Amino acid sequence: MFETLKPQPADTILTLMAKYREDPRDTKIDLGVGVYKDATGLTPVMRAVKSAEYTLWEQQDSKSYVGLAGDPAFGDAMVKLVLADSVERNNVAAAATPGGTGAIRQAFELIQMARPEARVFVSNPTWPNHISMLKYLDMEMVPYSYFDDETRGVDFDGMMADLKGVKAGDVVLLHGCCHNPTGANLNPSQWDEVIAHLKSTGATPMIDIAYQGFGEGLEQDAMATRKVAAAMPETIIATSCSKNFGIYRERTGMLIVVSHDTSAKSLNQATLAYLNRQNFSFPPDHGARLVTMILNDDALRADWMAEVEGIRTSLLDLRGQLASELQRLSGSDRFGFLAEHRGMFSRLGATPEQVEKLRVDAGIYMVGDSRMNIAGLNAKSIPILAKAIIDAGI
Ligand code: LMR
Repeated sequence: MFETLKPQPADTILTLMAKYREDPRDTKIDLGVGVYKDATGLTPVMRAVKSAEYTLWEQQDSKSYVGLAGDPAFGDAMVKLVLADSVERNNVAAAATPGGTGAIRQAFELIQMARPEARVFVSNPTWPNHISMLKYLDMEMVPYSYFDDETRGVDFDGMMADLKGVKAGDVVLLHGCCHNPTGANLNPSQWDEVIAHLKSTGATPMIDIAYQGFGEGLEQDAMATRKVAAAMPETIIATSCSKNFGIYRERTGMLIVVSHDTSAKSLNQATLAYLNRQNFSFPPDHGARLVTMILNDDALRADWMAEVEGIRTSLLDLRGQLASELQRLSGSDRFGFLAEHRGMFSRLGATPEQVEKLRVDAGIYMVGDSRMNIAGLNAKSIPILAKAIIDAGI
């Protein structure tokens, strides 16, 4: 039977990861996959995670199944982290998923189940796996303008013009903070306009918030999501602990469904559990348990928050250093957007040929659309990257 299989399109980010690994040059610079790295290039286990892991190892006496939606305490802790008190807990269904990707995939299936004809509006560009999963599920997708290639900021007029095409029953996928891949984000008044427009259409927002804490801060980064969830009758939220808890391989995420119709909660919750059962049964527990322990313990939580804040400020610092080195070399302010962007990524605005030239000539690996992982930089690589950018004529 397997002779009928056809090769599937390669994932751009993961292909780049493999190419980087194979490159023998010891001067190579990895700005590809969205993984935080410290100044030494290590993706560390966070202090609070290590500490919770130690306690868990000492105290856990069973690894038996928990529940299809995961441990309810994990649901409570994550709903609080993302939504605070913007909505009644009674109006929120939540299920643990294998990572943020699992949450997005379950969300798409939920949408398909509820409304097979729903169109999903996605920013152009968006995380490539959003598109890949929607195609895989054969769901209709409509791109909306998002990035202004000239200013490297948000093309807000273009975005609003395209969102005029949204109808009741459609879903609009938004990045809660730290837009992936561009790093360009809506400001609070632009969020207000988007919310007012979505309200007038009857469409449902879906928010991917995979990088909470890496932009303006843990609270600040959740503000837009909280506003949307408070204002709209229904909101779908896919969240991840991969980045802000640094537990990438533990596959820890959560799908949250807010409905202001309180009577909908039990059906929503049961449907999330049902979807988990169909796809993987019980979600992974180890990472979820660590996150719950950290969020519910004052000392661990404070330490975790301090470490996330350290990551955030180091990203800002790297952005500032790169922007000023480029200003020095180019004698212009045209790279100032790098310091304005937020989160792990910035889209440089280079052509695919220029991106390839950086890889071949200088061993600099960024995604083909010129998305750079800012965390892949350090004081030594910034001048090398800046020079290579200028040499490539970007
Ligand atoms: C990324 O965008 O690089 C990360 O979210 C990792 C991934 O799975 O693509």
